[in-house]
Amino acid sequence: MAEYSYAMIGASRISEQHIEAAKMAGLRLSAFCDLSPDNIQRVLSGSSLNDDEKKNVAVCGDYHHLLKETDADFITIATDSGSHARIALDCIDAGFHVLIEKPIALSLKDADAVINAAEKKNVAVAVSLQNRFNPAVKQLKHAIEHGDFGRLLHGCAHIRWNRDEEYFKAASWRGTWAADGGTLFNQCIHNIDILRWVMGGEIDEVFAYTDRLAHPYIETDDMGLGLIKMKNGSYGFIEGTINVYPKNLEETLYVFGETGTAKLVGPSVSKIVEWNVKDDPIPGEVVQSYEKLAQPAKGDKHRPVYENFAAFLAGKEPIFVDAKAGRDAIEVIFAMLLSSKQKQPVKLPLKDLATIDFAGMYD
Ligand SMILES: NC(=O)c1ccc[n+]([C@@H]2O[C@H](COP(=O)([O-])OP(=O)(O)OC[C@H]3O[C@@H](n4cnc5c(N)ncnc54)[C@H](O)[C@@H]3O)[C@@H](O)[C@H]2O)c1
Repeated sequence: MAEYSYAMIGASRISEQHIEAAKMAGLRLSAFCDLSPDNIQRVLSGSSLNDDEKKNVAVCGDYHHLLKETDADFITIATDSGSHARIALDCIDAGFHVLIEKPIALSLKDADAVINAAEKKNVAVAVSLQNRFNPAVKQLKHAIEHGDFGRLLHGCAHIRWNRDEEYFKAASWRGTWAADGGTLFNQCIHNIDILRWVMGGEIDEVFAYTDRLAHPYIETDDMGLGLIKMKNGSYGFIEGTINVYPKNLEETLYVFGETGTAKLVGPSVSKIVEWNVKDDPIPGEVVQSYEKLAQPAKGDKHRPVYENFAAFLAGKEPIFVDAKAGRDAIEVIFAMLLSSKQKQPVKLPLKDLATIDFAGMYD
């Protein structure tokens, strides 16, 4: 495969995973930008890039400068969530393909702007909802699409986690409406995305309670309970919380169909522990994937995101998780927040909602 290169904006904690993932996928980091030069140095020195690879990374503090100078094949955006859409629009405007960390944006208008701008400029947008690549999740999606579950009845996504004060103190944007969006946006989005995706994608309406119960020092929700009515007649249940004492308990996904029952467990719902599906055993390679993803090395989880991007650049694959998928995921969360605020079910599709519209909701 030809050698492709990428530039990264945001020397964040998650960028450490991106650098290893991209390296495993055979991609070269050509430029790295962060407001803080110290963060760039910290991430680069902690990475597995060799001295030559590090030396050839152009570093800068202003991404507008990077956009003028870089000849990278695409740009990864790994900054705080509130800046994703603005930076993505600038990258797209400069003609670059982009890989955006989740969530794609903190407003539906911004997500739509990214989708439309990319279409206009004919560039690709990928969103880092990497759990969709897990062999267990792909197997579930494939079996449902193949009709093995029969008529879908209902599915559940449970995210029962813990995030303490130390977590929120580590970065000032966390727990804010403007730059984080809340627990559903930050911690729960992967499993919410997968639930919508595997249950057929098209939602009729959502009813939810969201609240801030145990984190008085943040602005946003720390838990949400949502009921989804899908257009295909099935239902979904979302339970997302960071209030579980004293540590993460589980991330679990259930799907119930007329001829299929599946239960996937964490980390990242990477393991199928119940698979009662008519005439459809779990393939060996899916089972073999469990061990690797149970104790992932740095970069393992994002690796398929980069492999997919490299294959896209080589003209071999479409982008697997695109901007529309990124929008679908945040739309469910906006529906939950709006339903909770209005204390009534909310019909989809939704337009024109931003996380900052919910400021003060739990005060
Ligand atoms: N896909 C996943 O599983 C996953 C996991 C963790 C975090 N994330 C996402 O990754 C993103 C980053 O999270 P984090 O906790 O790693 O962040 P972080 O707080 O560690 O780092 C954010 C970095 O962005 C930089 N930055 C902000 N604005 C900038 C700008 N305009 N130009 C250049 N640099 C800028 C900051 O200086 C900082 O170094 C968030 O959107 C988060 O939701 C995704």
